Amino acid sequence: MSDLLQKLQWRYATKKMNPAKAVDEDKVATILEAIRLTATSSGLQPYEVYVIKNQELRAKIKPHAWNQDQITDCSHLLVFAAWDNYTEERINMMFDLVNDVRGFKNEGWENYRQMLLGAYPQRDAETNYAHAARQAYIGLGTALIAAAEERVDSTPIEGFDPEKVDEILSLKEKGLRSVVLLPLGYRADEGDWLVDLKKVRRSKENFVTELN
Ligand SMILES: Cc1cc2nc3c(=O)[nH]c(=O)nc-3n(C[C@H](O)[C@H](O)[C@H](O)COP(=O)(O)O)c2cc1C
Repeated sequence: MSDLLQKLQWRYATKKMNPAKAVDEDKVATILEAIRLTATSSGLQPYEVYVIKNQELRAKIKPHAWNQDQITDCSHLLVFAAWDNYTEERINMMFDLVNDVRGFKNEGWENYRQMLLGAYPQRDAETNYAHAARQAYIGLGTALIAAAEERVDSTPIEGFDPEKVDEILSLKEKGLRSVVLLPLGYRADEGDWLVDLKKVRRSKENFVTELN
């Protein structure tokens, strides 16, 4: 089995983390960099990642996340927070950044900018947020793989009240909405009901359709 597949077999949605074992900052930095480097639609990167080590903040979030222990037992809680809307400013910011970094303007790229400017800001905010949130999920997927690569345990968490988390982190004021959480830490030696259970996936035959 490939090294990558072995790591993906190893990872699981950790139910009980060891609060005494913190993830090294360089490993967290690698996971964050993997998220930053992953793909997004039109390269807009329409979300941000909050890294919460502050125990008080995590204790505030926990009751709004089904009291899941990983929120406070992890060492780093990642919060994926998507743009609440696509505005002209946000779209221009990313297109200008591309021009700045590459050092030239390209007609095709500028036409593409105009196309997005003519399409996204006019749509309702909820549609735009949903699109931005989908990009955040790509970041989540990348983080899950990167964490496994670093032999760091993680738990993707959708079981939380986004409005409460937005309030606790003052995300609304920044035009952001929390999408999904990812505690990073290490599995506890005891007390995790899932750790020794077999990974269950639909068979390849029921999952992949090959049309030759
Ligand atoms: C978007 C998303 C949200 C999830 N939310 C939770 C959650 O709130 N709590 C939890 O314990 N597991 C959560 N999970 C974990 C899934 O139940 C788990 O990934 C799935 O059962 C497959 O098992 P495995 O990841 O352990 O291989 C979530 C997973 C994803 C991808």
